Amino acid sequence: MKDILKIIRYSWVLKPYYLATALFVVLIALLNQANPFLLKFLVDAVVKRGSGGSVETAHFGMLLALLFAAGIMISLISNVQGYIGDQLGAKLRTLLSQRYYDHLLELPLEYYDNEITGVITSRLDRSIATISDLVQMMANNFIGFFLTSVFTLVILARYSPFVALLLAVLFPLYIWLTTITSRSWQKKQEGINEQTDYGSGRFIESIGNIRVVKAFVHERRESRIFATSRDSVERQTRAQSKEWHRYDFVRGVSLNIIFFAIYAVIIWQALNGSFGPIQQSIGTVVLMLQLTLQAQFPLFASSFIVDQIQRAAAGSKDFFEVMELVPTIQDADGAGELEVTAGRVEYRAVSFAYKGGQQVLTDITFAIEPGTKLALVGESGEGKTTIANLLLRFYETSEGQITVDGTDIRTVSQVSLRRNIGVVFQEPALFSGTVTENISYGQPGFTQEQVVAAAQAANAHDFVERLPQGYDTEIGERGVKLSGGQKQRLAIARALMKNPPILLLDEATSSLDSKAEREVQDALERLMRGRTTLIIAHRLSTIQNVDVIVGIRQGAVAEVGSPAELAATDGIYAELLQLQAPTTANKAKLKAYDIAGV
Ligand SMILES: Nc1ncnc2c1ncn2[C@@H]1O[C@H](COP(=O)(O)OP(=O)(O)OP(=O)(O)O)[C@@H](O)[C@H]1O
Ligand SMILES: [Mg+2]
Repeated sequence: MKDILKIIRYSWVLKPYYLATALFVVLIALLNQANPFLLKFLVDAVVKRGSGGSVETAHFGMLLALLFAAGIMISLISNVQGYIGDQLGAKLRTLLSQRYYDHLLELPLEYYDNEITGVITSRLDRSIATISDLVQMMANNFIGFFLTSVFTLVILARYSPFVALLLAVLFPLYIWLTTITSRSWQKKQEGINEQTDYGSGRFIESIGNIRVVKAFVHERRESRIFATSRDSVERQTRAQSKEWHRYDFVRGVSLNIIFFAIYAVIIWQALNGSFGPIQQSIGTVVLMLQLTLQAQFPLFASSFIVDQIQRAAAGSKDFFEVMELVPTIQDADGAGELEVTAGRVEYRAVSFAYKGGQQVLTDITFAIEPGTKLALVGESGEGKTTIANLLLRFYETSEGQITVDGTDIRTVSQVSLRRNIGVVFQEPALFSGTVTENISYGQPGFTQEQVVAAAQAANAHDFVERLPQGYDTEIGERGVKLSGGQKQRLAIARALMKNPPILLLDEATSSLDSKAEREVQDALERLMRGRTTLIIAHRLSTIQNVDVIVGIRQGAVAEVGSPAELAATDGIYAELLQLQAPTTANKAKLKAYDIAGV
C-alpha cells in the first residue's frame, strides 16, 4: 500500500484523473446499494399484496423502472469511469517512462559501465507495466469493490450488527492471511524478475552483436542461454504459484466458513423473528442476503487484487531504485558557462581510479597550448582513453584538476563544457537515420549547405553523393550499411559541423587501405586546423606531425616534448621510430602500441 501511495504522490500531476476516478467510484458504490433495496421493496410489495394488502400496480411498475434505471446508470457511469481509468493508465505509463528515460540520460557513464542495456530496458518495461496496470485496475475495479463492501457493511449493521461484525472481521483476517505468504511471494518474484531481465538483456545484446554471434557460430549457444533463463523463470513461477494457490485455498476455505456462518446467522435470526414477524420480514431477509452476496464478491476477487498489488510493489521497488540514484557527477551550485577564449587545456597533477578498480592514472600533468596538437602515446590499456574521458567529465578526477583557459572544468556546467569539445571516438558511433541526420547530430537549426560543407571537408561528400538517396540515405543501425572508412569520415564531418575550439581525437586503430587511410587522414588534418587538439595517436605519421608528444607508461607521464626533442632521447617515441625497420619483432612491438605502420 505504501508503494501505491508513493506512486500516486509521485504522479500527482495526474490529479484530475485520480479525483475524477475517485468521484465515479463513490457514485458507483452508492448506486450498487440501490439494487438490494429495490429488490427488498419489490418482495415486500409482493408479500403484502399476496396476503391481501393493497398495493397499486403502478407501485410495482415504478420499482421495476427504478431497477432498470439504476442498471443503466451503473453501466453508463462505470464506462465513463473505465474510460478515465484507461486514460489514467496510459498517462501514467507515459509519465513514468519519460521520467525514467530522462533520469537515465542524466546518469553518468559509471552507471552504464556496470549495467547491461537489455537489463535496463527490460526492467523499465516490466516495472512500469506492473505499476500502471495496477493503478488502472484500481481505478477501474478494485477501489469500487472495496467501497461497495464498506457501504454494504454499514447498511448491514443497521439490520444485524452481529452479521456486520462477522463481515468486518473478514477484512483484517484476510489481510493477515495474505501477509503471511506475501514476503515469500515477493522474494520469489525478485528472483523471477532478475532472471527475466537477465534473459532479455542477453537477448538484446546478442541481437546487437548479431555479426559476432553468426561468425562464431554461437546461435545455438545463445539460444540455450536464453532457454536456461526462461526455464529458471518458469520453474520459479511454478513454485511461487503453487505456494500462492495452496495458501489461497486456505484463505478460500476460511472465507467460506465465515460466509457459511453469516448465512446461517441471517436465517436463524429471521426464523427467530429478529427482523419482525416472518411474513413481513421476507424483504429484509432478501436484502440481507443480497448485501452479504455483494460483500462476498470483492473478498473472493481480492486474491487477484493482492496478486496485482504485489507485482506492482516489486515493480515500484525496481522503479524507485533507479529513480533515486543520485548522479555522481553534477554541475556545481551556480556553475557558470564555459567561455573558451584561447583554448588552452591543462591537466594538473590528475589522478584517477575507476569505481571499485585500481589506480589508472597517477599525477598526470601536461598542457596543450591554444591551437596546437598534442599526441598521447603509450601501450594498450595504459590510460589514454581515460585521460580523454576526464576532459569531457565523463568521470570525475580523484585528485588534481583539469582547466580550460584557466577555468577548472568542475566549476562550469557540463553542457557548456561539452559544447566546446568536438569528439571523434575510436569507434565511430553513428545512429540509424539518414546521412544528414548523423552529420547534423546535436546541431539544431543547421542548414543543408553546412552539412554538405562539413562532408566535403571530411572527404565524405563524394561517397555520400554516390549513395542511393545521397544525403537522405538511411545508414542502418550504428551505420552498418557503411564501410569502416566511410563511418569514420561521417564521424569527422559530425565533429566539423560542431566547429568546436577544442578537439578530442581517438584515432581508429583499424587499418584502412592506403587510399581510404589518406582520405581519413586529410579529413582529420582539416578538422584539427586551428583547434586545440588532444590526439590518441595510433599512426606514426600522425605522431610525427604534432607539436607535443606525451608518452604514458603505467598511467603516468613518462616523457613530454616535441617530436624532434623526443627523437633524440631513448624514450617511447624514440623507440617507436627505431621500430620502423620492418622486422617481425618490430612489428610485434609496434602492435603493442597499437601503431599502424607509416
Ligand atoms: N569503464 C571502465 N571501468 C573500469 N575500468 C576501466 C574502464 N575503462 C577502462 N578501464 C581500465 O582502465 C585502464 C586504462 O584503460 P584505457 O581505456 O584508458 O586504456 P587506453 O590507453 O586507451 O588503451 P587502448 O590503447 O587499448 O585504447 C585499463 O586497465 C582498463 O582495464
Ligand atoms: Mg583507448
